Amino acid sequence: MKITIVGSGKVGSSIARLLAIKQLADEIVLIDINEGLAKGTALDLLHASSIDHHACRIVGTKDYEFAEDSELYIITAGAPRNPGMSRKDLFDKNAKIAVEVSENIKRVSNSRSKIIVITNPVDAISYVVKKVTGFDRRRVIGLSGVLDSARMRFYIAQELDVAPENVTAIVIGGHGNHMVPLVKYSTVGGIPITQLLSREKIEEIVERTKRGGAEVLETMGFSAFSAPASSVVEMIESIIKNKRKILPCSVYLQGEYGVNDCFIGVPVVLGKNGLERIIEVELDEEEKKKFLESINEVRSLIEKINL
Ligand code: APR
Repeated sequence: MKITIVGSGKVGSSIARLLAIKQLADEIVLIDINEGLAKGTALDLLHASSIDHHACRIVGTKDYEFAEDSELYIITAGAPRNPGMSRKDLFDKNAKIAVEVSENIKRVSNSRSKIIVITNPVDAISYVVKKVTGFDRRRVIGLSGVLDSARMRFYIAQELDVAPENVTAIVIGGHGNHMVPLVKYSTVGGIPITQLLSREKIEEIVERTKRGGAEVLETMGFSAFSAPASSVVEMIESIIKNKRKILPCSVYLQGEYGVNDCFIGVPVVLGKNGLERIIEVELDEEEKKKFLESINEVRSLIEKINL
C-alpha cells in the first residue's frame, strides 16, 4: 500500500506518523516544495520506526516521480491560514497550489488512484482538484464533516462525562462557518442527545463545534493538525480496508440534495472505490436553509475560477 502525502507540514507529517504507527501503509511518499522539510520529516519518522514497530518505507522529496502509482494521494499543500485572513484570500492562494499539485498527480497516478483533499477552503479546493485531474467523483473526496463531527462528539462526551467514541454526530454542509450540525441524528450509546441534554446546552455545543477550528487557531496562532490528521486517517482506513463506513465528507454532488456541480459535506459510504455512495438524509426547513447557505458560500468562491 503506497500513499503519497503532498505537503509535509504539520497536517501532512501527522498523517504520515499515524499511517506508519497504525501500519496502514508500507510505503509513504512525502512531497513538499520545501524539500528539506520533506526529507527531514521522513528521516525523523524513520528514526522512530524501531520503537514504533513498523517497517514502512518513508521517502521525503519534491519529485513526483517517487509518487508514481500511489493508491492514495493526500493533498495538504497550502499557504497557512493566518488569523484574520478571509476565505477568499486563502482560496486564491491555495487554488493556484492545488492546480499545480493536481497536474502532477494526474501525471503520475493510475486509474485506481484516489485523492483526499485537506487544503482549505476544502470544498472549493476539492472542486479545483476534480476539474484539473478529470477524476470521476468517486476518486476525489474532501475532509470536512469527519473533523467537525469529531469535535462535536468530543464536546457532547465532555458534557455528559462519557467516552467520546460512544457518541455519534453528523455535521454536513460547508467546512467552515456554514457547517450544519444535525442535532436530531446525534446519539450517545444509541440515545438521542435531545433526551440527555437541554436545548440550551445543545445550542452551546453546536456553536462551539462551529468555532472549533477557529478556537484552536486563535489559541495557538496556527491551525489545528492532530484532529485533522486523525480524521483523514479514519477516511483512509475505510477506503483501503474497504470498511464502507458512513462518514460525512465533502463530495461532488450531481443532483443529490437538489444540488449540482458543487462539492459539499454530506454523509457518504467510503470503500475501496473511494466514494461508494451518497446517503440522503431528511433535513428540516432550518437545516435546508443553512445547507443552501453553505452551498452558496462555496459557489461564491468557485464561480470566478477559470479551469
Ligand atoms: N507543493 C508542495 N507543497 C507545498 C506547495 C506546493 N506547491 N505549496 C506549499 N506547500 C507546502 C508548504 O511548504 C508546507 O510545508 O505545504 C505545507 C503546508 O504545511 P503547513 O503550513 O504546516 O500547514 P498545515 O497546518 O499542515 O495545514 C495544511 O490543511 O487543515 C488544512 O487549513 C489547513 O490548508 C491547510 C492544510
